[in-house]
Amino acid sequence: MQIIHSIAELRQRLSAESNVTVVPTMGNLHEGHLSLAQRAKARGSYVVVSIFVNHLQFEPGGDFDRYPRTLNDDCAKLKTVGVDIVFAPDDQEMYPEPQQVIVQPPPLAEMLEGEYRPGHFAGMLTVVLKLLNIVQPDAAIFGKKDYQQLAVIREMVQQVNLPVEIIAADTVRAADGLALSSRNGYLSEAERTEAVRLNQQLRVIKTAIESGQRDYASLEDIAISELTEHGWKVNYIAVREQRGLSLPHSASTKLVVLAAAWLGKTRLIDNLEIALT
Ligand code: PAJ
Repeated sequence: MQIIHSIAELRQRLSAESNVTVVPTMGNLHEGHLSLAQRAKARGSYVVVSIFVNHLQFEPGGDFDRYPRTLNDDCAKLKTVGVDIVFAPDDQEMYPEPQQVIVQPPPLAEMLEGEYRPGHFAGMLTVVLKLLNIVQPDAAIFGKKDYQQLAVIREMVQQVNLPVEIIAADTVRAADGLALSSRNGYLSEAERTEAVRLNQQLRVIKTAIESGQRDYASLEDIAISELTEHGWKVNYIAVREQRGLSLPHSASTKLVVLAAAWLGKTRLIDNLEIALT
């Protein structure tokens, strides 16, 4: 496994490869990230994992400064799953000048996360577009953990005709159901125990919908009250169409329930897909 910091060197190294899959990350890797890399490897690809904490996608006052940077540990983990290249550029390499060309996200990015994290999706799409242009991969893998991110990336790739296949990977969870996240490391021991409630509430909603309940707004309200009673500050709990994340209609069969909430100083997100037959 090679660790490369420069774009020129990466391009040179990749010029002879015909089947490349990239897994973009911000590092501090956990089993969720590693499952994406394994998925890439299982495709028989030459696998590039990028590690870059992208300041453009952090809102002012966000956790950019305290975001954990653990490159050595990350590389040791990636080696065990057979990754070929770790691309770890620094800020100067990715943004040698202030980035003035910014991707304008589609309307899909304005709701849910977009409402609570202004500018986040524009910054995220800008770095993803740059990474896809730098690596020029055949495929790129993203996690469903960041469900709206994945949808927004798909839309960008389609609308600007990027020749890359976007692959969605399932969310990896701790034994109690909490979705793995680099931000879980911010939780105190007591918060870590409480954190599972977010996923539990999503499961309650999923089960209710699967057994015929269609009053989505009241299911959302009950979950919000439950979390609020236990000290959470809920941004949203929303039952949506999987495709386009629009409000469900009576004939909808592919739904997803998405949530974002603060537990103390940590903002957690999660979602569950719901297939109605
Ligand atoms: P990051 O949060 O590091 O996540 C990198 C990738 O890992 C994303 O595609 C994310 O959805 C996926 N991921 C995170 N937790 C996961 C879990 N528990 N199970 C499965 N996959 C999981 O998302 C970003 O970085 C950035 O926005 C990025 C796309 C790299 C652009 O900067």
